[in-house]
Amino acid sequence: MKSSKRGLSERALLVGITGASGAPYAVAFLRLLQELSQPVEVIVTEPGLFVLEHETGLTLADLEKVCARLWREDHLAAPPASGSVPYRGMVVIPCSMGTLSAIAQGAARNLLQRAADVTLKEGRPLVLVVRETPLNLVHLRNMLAAAQAGAVIYPAMPAFYPRPQSLQEMLDFFAKRLAEFLEIPVENLQRWGENG
Ligand SMILES: Cc1cc2nc3c(=O)[nH]c(=O)nc-3n(C[C@H](O)[C@H](O)[C@H](O)COP(=O)(O)O)c2cc1C
Repeated sequence: MKSSKRGLSERALLVGITGASGAPYAVAFLRLLQELSQPVEVIVTEPGLFVLEHETGLTLADLEKVCARLWREDHLAAPPASGSVPYRGMVVIPCSMGTLSAIAQGAARNLLQRAADVTLKEGRPLVLVVRETPLNLVHLRNMLAAAQAGAVIYPAMPAFYPRPQSLQEMLDFFAKRLAEFLEIPVENLQRWGENG
């Protein structure tokens, strides 16, 4: 009998967008995934929407164009709230210190936090693109707790060795490295030691 189970690479990736600064990282990542025809579903918090609009001029309607499905944080009964839906993993980009704290403590007070909690309990990859500076002791402790629970702390730190000529190049490089980290094949990634 032919198996109807979809392979891991065909499962949708969950992308959470919070109200940390750095919405352009989320946009670059979503656009890359769209280019790569990767199935993506998005959860955005209310502060996330505010910062997205403030930093990029984009709205909820624009976000809807770069993902298969989109939920706001109060949609607590949406599919990402259940471990029975086999997402391949979740990336929170950018991840605020508030959401980091909720994930580290298992608070699950909105759909994004619940989805991250589910991702951890199901043993799926959870990547937190944290963004804050400087970091206080609470932030550091929460990062440690989240990492101990299985999350990957992936700070929003752009690379300089490819000598980006624009902000967009910097964001695109970060997005490609993140995709590759999630085992999504990318093209034209400039690697250290190549091209002289
Ligand atoms: C313009 C702006 C920039 C912000 N930048 C950050 C940030 O870089 N990191 C952070 O942790 N919070 C930042 N915040 C605060 C968060 O938006 C706030 O803590 C919010 O409650 C986070 O909620 P959420 O994680 O549910 O999206 C920023 C807020 C605004 C308005």
